[in-house]
Amino acid sequence: MSRLRVGYVGCGFMAQRVHLPNLAAIPDCELVALAEVRPLLGRKVQERYRIPRLYPSHVELAADPEVEAVCVSAAFHVQGEIAKDLLLAGKHVFMEKPMAISIPQAEAILAASRQTGARLMVGYMKRYDAGNELFRSTLDGFRASGELGEIVYARNHGFCGDWTAGIDTPVETTDEPAPASPAPIPSWLPPEFFKDYVGYLQQYTHNINLLRWFLDAGDRVQVKHVDFDSDGYTGIVVFDMNGTRAVLESGRLSYYRWDEHTQVYLRHGWLRTWAPPLLLRNAPAEVEIYRGGETQTFTTPLPKDRWSWSYKRELEHFVRQVRSGEPFRTSGEDTLTDVRLFEDIYRAYLRNRDAI
Ligand SMILES: NC(=O)c1ccc[n+]([C@@H]2O[C@H](COP(=O)([O-])OP(=O)(O)OC[C@H]3O[C@@H](n4cnc5c(N)ncnc54)[C@H](O)[C@@H]3O)[C@@H](O)[C@H]2O)c1
Repeated sequence: MSRLRVGYVGCGFMAQRVHLPNLAAIPDCELVALAEVRPLLGRKVQERYRIPRLYPSHVELAADPEVEAVCVSAAFHVQGEIAKDLLLAGKHVFMEKPMAISIPQAEAILAASRQTGARLMVGYMKRYDAGNELFRSTLDGFRASGELGEIVYARNHGFCGDWTAGIDTPVETTDEPAPASPAPIPSWLPPEFFKDYVGYLQQYTHNINLLRWFLDAGDRVQVKHVDFDSDGYTGIVVFDMNGTRAVLESGRLSYYRWDEHTQVYLRHGWLRTWAPPLLLRNAPAEVEIYRGGETQTFTTPLPKDRWSWSYKRELEHFVRQVRSGEPFRTSGEDTLTDVRLFEDIYRAYLRNRDAI
């Protein structure tokens, strides 16, 4: 089978620090085209990765018949529009999260995918972390065997910290200004809360997406209670996820690492996973299993893929699934639930404040 011919849109931080190096290291694909609206930056990155063609925007790249699939990382509200255009041009797309900042935007992107049959994967790399995969398969096993009883509670704690593990600049920079692109504010959201809404969404879309996957919840999720400080960020959300009470704890901590863990309690034990700082390469999440009952044990199993990076594994998945036609673990359709939940969380928060 020939290598998948991939294009890339946007040469900013995530492209340079994460996705382009990872794509360049995946033998089953080749980078054939790049698009960047800042021409000098585009040229520098093109030269660094020796990518044959550079386009002034995603529109020209979308018309390149040689490109089979495209990866996109741009501003949070722009990348969904770029993805929509690429899907309409028949290209399979991997895009950074968030897919969209409102349900109508998400639905328009998914309609484009349905129209041409081109498929969309969204960058929720935590679902591809080898430690998190071990967590999920172990939990599935417990669920099937009943060894530790039924699931009684789940929580994700995310107080942030330094996600960059000390890396904070793109490799190539220029003085060219970033493109101006005002964000469309969802119709139900008072504009003065838009910044808070996006700040919360940008961070915790990952945590909710991961919790849903651990609990195999799909779209069977409801927001039951929201209790935030007036920053619209610090606090808790209580969900019903597939019949399990799940709590998301959000906050900011000046931690030098990354303060995030997820725990699922069963009647006779628990599973716990600690996230690594996101840009720390080749360090999967750490997993602990506690078995209660007659013989009590703690184990800390290691995933088979011990030295691996979630971001690289997500792009390997993208390339593999595009080539095989198999579904994506983090499809656009699945992500629609995350978009809905963000609207529900913020509506509940604003109702608590009598702001809507
Ligand atoms: N998964 C994660 O852990 C994670 C972490 C950080 C950021 N992100 C997401 O990644 C996205 C990108 O973040 P970033 O820091 O790389 O952004 P960035 O601003 O550094 O880079 C975006 C680049 O896209 C270019 N661009 C914009 N419109 C374009 C177009 N139409 N055609 C071609 N190029 C275009 C810009 O000029 C810019 O260089 C954000 O949406 C963010 O939510 C995800």
